[in-house]
Amino acid sequence: MSILKVRVWRGGDSGAYQAYEVPRQESQTVLDVVTYIQRALDPTLAYRFACRVGMCGSCAMTVNGRARWTCRTHVDKVADDGALEIAPLSNLPVVRDLVTDMTEFFDKWAKARGRFRGAATRRDAFARVEPSSPARRQVDAGIECIGCGVCYSSCDVVSWNPDYLGPAALNRAWTLVNDARDTDNRARLSAVAGDAGCHACHTHMSCSERCPKQISPTAAIAGLKRASALAALRGELSDG
Ligand code: SF4
Ligand code: SF4
Ligand code: FES
Repeated sequence: MSILKVRVWRGGDSGAYQAYEVPRQESQTVLDVVTYIQRALDPTLAYRFACRVGMCGSCAMTVNGRARWTCRTHVDKVADDGALEIAPLSNLPVVRDLVTDMTEFFDKWAKARGRFRGAATRRDAFARVEPSSPARRQVDAGIECIGCGVCYSSCDVVSWNPDYLGPAALNRAWTLVNDARDTDNRARLSAVAGDAGCHACHTHMSCSERCPKQISPTAAIAGLKRASALAALRGELSDG
């Protein structure tokens, strides 16, 4: 049986890597490796997962230097030489070992007004949204985000400017800007037009290259740049 040589981050922000040896198996995922270490070698290892099928977004880690969802990342694809280095996501505070504190990530969704705000009541008819309309297509392109944080962890601007709202929150804002039922767009465009908003993105694309759901936050941010600039020209931006 072949053996994987695995280095895993232990401790908080100032921790260190610890080495483990894990039996290699067919169709093994990186999450399988972490789970093996915790169950068979070291029960004190902290990590997070829930669904194991790419739906919940909780298992993202840095694997051989790149942020990835670990439950859908096969070892064969990332460890050609039989070596794995697994660390917590970057750009977020480390709680312990492989667990990051996602508070600021989700706080930024709220700052970007990433919550739907409609005006219809239960007595109103269902909204009719044409599936082929340009706005609905923009929503379709970004709606499958699972909030994994891979894009946020991969973004250089977040590293330089901790206030930057980041690709996931801005992608969410763009899906709502295109939602015909939402009533909060003036405040939303104002919220994302500030110094820490869409205009801080330098279109470097690592968010879009690494998103496991093939979403392009870069394209969403470009849409927000256009929409917020137009709103500014029309005098429609508010203080939020
Ligand atoms: S395109 Fe923008 S949001 Fe995406 S990684 Fe680059 S700077 Fe960050
Ligand atoms: S946009 Fe993609 S990488 Fe970013 S949080 Fe959503 S699913 Fe994850
Ligand atoms: S465990 Fe849910 S996305 Fe990986």
